[in-house]
Amino acid sequence: TYVIAEPCVDVLDKACIEECPVDCIYEGNRMLYIHPDECVDCGACEPVCPVEAIFYEDDVPDEWAPYTKANVDFFDELGSPGGASKVGKIDKDDPFVAEQPAKEE
Ligand code: F3S
Ligand code: F3S
Repeated sequence: TYVIAEPCVDVLDKACIEECPVDCIYEGNRMLYIHPDECVDCGACEPVCPVEAIFYEDDVPDEWAPYTKANVDFFDELGSPGGASKVGKIDKDDPFVAEQPAKEE
């Protein structure tokens, strides 16, 4: 699976959403999350993120390793909805993400 990491927090550019052929990039409050079971590893999302927040799971920088878990745990209660557009914005974040300091614009 691919993973969205720290650079997305408070940025949420959303260019990635339009690239994903399986609609598996879900919107939380402070960042977007890739569904680890729905992602088909196509790689289309990775180059379009203007802040380079997206990584293949094996390539996530060590400092952002908690984001790999955050992208998984975000879906604990949601399960596998099978498409982000029908779900819409989800009014929560992974707890690790929620406690990150706010980013200055
Ligand atoms: Fe975030 Fe980049 Fe997508 S900022 S919403 S991962 S295009
Ligand atoms: Fe979607 Fe492909 Fe990225 S399945 S999340 S665009 S790697």
